[in-house]
Amino acid sequence: MQKIAILCSGGDVSGMNAALKRFVEYALYKKMIPYFIYDGYEGLIDDTIKEAQYKDVAGIISQGGTMIGTSRSQRFLKKDFRKKAIANLNKREIEGVIILGGDGSFKGMQKISLEAPHIRFSGIPATIDNDIAGTEYSLGVDTALNIIKYAIDAIRDTASSFKRAFIIETMGRECGYLALVSALTSGAEMCLIPEKEYDIKMYEKRFRKEINEGRSYFIAVLSESMNKTEEIKEWFESTLGIESRIVILGHIQRGGNPTVHDRLMASHFVTYAINGIIDGVENKVVCYNGDGFGYKHIDEVAFKQYQIPKDLLSLML
Ligand code: F6P
Repeated sequence: MQKIAILCSGGDVSGMNAALKRFVEYALYKKMIPYFIYDGYEGLIDDTIKEAQYKDVAGIISQGGTMIGTSRSQRFLKKDFRKKAIANLNKREIEGVIILGGDGSFKGMQKISLEAPHIRFSGIPATIDNDIAGTEYSLGVDTALNIIKYAIDAIRDTASSFKRAFIIETMGRECGYLALVSALTSGAEMCLIPEKEYDIKMYEKRFRKEINEGRSYFIAVLSESMNKTEEIKEWFESTLGIESRIVILGHIQRGGNPTVHDRLMASHFVTYAINGIIDGVENKVVCYNGDGFGYKHIDEVAFKQYQIPKDLLSLML
């Protein structure tokens, strides 16, 4: 019977538990033996690997985070530690490993896959940043976007009551996807992301006109990597004379009850990953694009830069 393992690496996302549940259930359905690797690559090195059963995943589908833990492992960057990790897989005769994570995690996967060619590795994009090349969608993004949506809707209530500007900072590392989609779907007046240059004079002209026509409050959504949150707050106060507040959404974007979309995507991603391992697909990442699910080689994913689709960027006014 084929033995197969799963680990979560990097930032947790809502939907990872749904993926773990599907992993156990589908592996058992396919007559495989599922294993959990706890705490990401750290657990792979430290041998915290345990056989998983149905009862381990009961009731977890609605929980955010990951019940098997995660880590950003510095040790895994070193060959000696990867050797230990491979030995831990070998001694259990594990033939396939699924890795849920972002591009940092896939760089680790690329390294270990070259050093352990007898094991099939399969990646599943999972990061709220949606910054993985080769896939339009990464697990957890929809839940994060919905959390941001609730937050901005609530902030709008107080912004309009008090006639203030709110500068809302989203996560996303170097990628503006979360900020852009949130700004578009929450009707924000300003959106600053690294993918698009902005002209503060243009904003000034536009906002002055709107104020003259009766606008009394503003919502600005800024991606964290802009590092402009404080500056834009000052700008609203000194240039437009509008009292302003900053809201840094922070880690609430990563947690919470996963949306229906993320639960379903988790099921698809894991099913593809397991089917791929059974069919001999090696060292690929399961990607989702307009034409559905498919596999891309790890090199195409881990070492390329994600680009926000042009049609999405063009919605920015
Ligand atoms: O990559 C996911 C992410 O949430 C980023 O959006 C954010 O910049 C970073 O992780 C925060 O990392 P940490 O949880 O280690 O503070």
